[in-house]
Amino acid sequence: MSNDSASTSAPVRKGTLQFIDVVKDYGTGEPAVKDINFRIEDGELVTLLGPSGCGKTTILRMIAGLELPSRGQILLGGKDVTSQSAAERNVSLVFQSYALFPHMSVMENVCYGLTVQGMKKPDAEARAAETIKLLGLTGFERRLPSELSGGQQQRVAIARALVLEPAVLLFDEPLSNLDTKLRRHVRQEIRDLQQRLKLTCVYVTHDREEAMAVSDQIIVMERGRIGEMGSPTQLFFSPRSAFVADFLSEANVVPATVTATNGERATVSVGGAQFDIHAPGAQVGSAKLALRPDVFTVSAGDGDTSTGPSIMGSVLKSSFIGKGVEVVVNSALGELFVFLPHGREPYSAGTNVRLAFAPADARLIAR
Ligand SMILES: Nc1ncnc2c1ncn2[C@@H]1O[C@H](COP(=O)(O)OP(=O)(O)O)[C@@H](O)[C@H]1O
Ligand SMILES: [Mg+2]
Repeated sequence: MSNDSASTSAPVRKGTLQFIDVVKDYGTGEPAVKDINFRIEDGELVTLLGPSGCGKTTILRMIAGLELPSRGQILLGGKDVTSQSAAERNVSLVFQSYALFPHMSVMENVCYGLTVQGMKKPDAEARAAETIKLLGLTGFERRLPSELSGGQQQRVAIARALVLEPAVLLFDEPLSNLDTKLRRHVRQEIRDLQQRLKLTCVYVTHDREEAMAVSDQIIVMERGRIGEMGSPTQLFFSPRSAFVADFLSEANVVPATVTATNGERATVSVGGAQFDIHAPGAQVGSAKLALRPDVFTVSAGDGDTSTGPSIMGSVLKSSFIGKGVEVVVNSALGELFVFLPHGREPYSAGTNVRLAFAPADARLIAR
């Protein structure tokens, strides 16, 4: 390769989306979001995950051009679109409440955006028919939204956004109007469609399981800032912050001490237990350790049956929730939340228990 071609970077693909130092201040006190930096690659589904009010919708609306950033830059397909209007950007939004036109048929709803753009009706209908087929809605073209189920209405909303062939498709809590069982089904449909068509999507939810099920990457939002960004398994198994550990897996974050380090390994002391774990970059001194609820083996009484680290405590409350047993344990490290996926009977309050865990399941976290 010549020096010339090496210095010419590859063309940026149309769905690549980048935020550079973006701030949105509505002028009502603290900015709604700040220091937002991320890059989403073409063909990826990236989810903004976080509690209500953390700024997810604000970021989505800035991508769509429905809000302008107070500072910073937004690049779409490598082009600066920061000050472009919504109509100038090649981006479509699927709303929380589907916002279908109630008096229009499925076909008319899906065609609407195309005819507004000036496409002739027969051409618009031909294109819409393809999208309708893609979403499994063939045969429903003449129905009104009120004659469809919630899941079908959601698919019409997606068809209406998708027919415009956007570079980026945005979803703001698209499943919030559906019941639990349908939610799982529709989220899988969205993920399948996204993978099949290699769509670039930004998806917003406050539900961690939904986020993990649909995403290539998750951006966890914490009070208007990005907490962490990573794949679902990275964030679930190796969170770097207490906030993400708690938000993604309800991990127990307990005080610990790093007593020695050796290359990428650290000796950690927690409660009375001492053990070695993989912890690159750890420093000797006080630290925090994340222990997910599902990493524990519980044994009643004081009998020491395991050789690994363990924490002693007594049961505060316990309940059977069908897919397992939850146990809240009072320990010298504070209250610990334990989940036993194969548990069949809850523990009686007051039972003394030993909570054993494998060192490999413990995570040192930075903050
Ligand atoms: N149009 C607006 N004017 C003033 N404040 C707003 C506006 N929209 C959102 N906010 C505020 O910005 C913050 C983030 O809101 P939002 O982006 O809707 O969060 P989320 O979607 O994560 O629930 C909240 O504190 C909210 O009250
Ligand atoms: Mg919102």
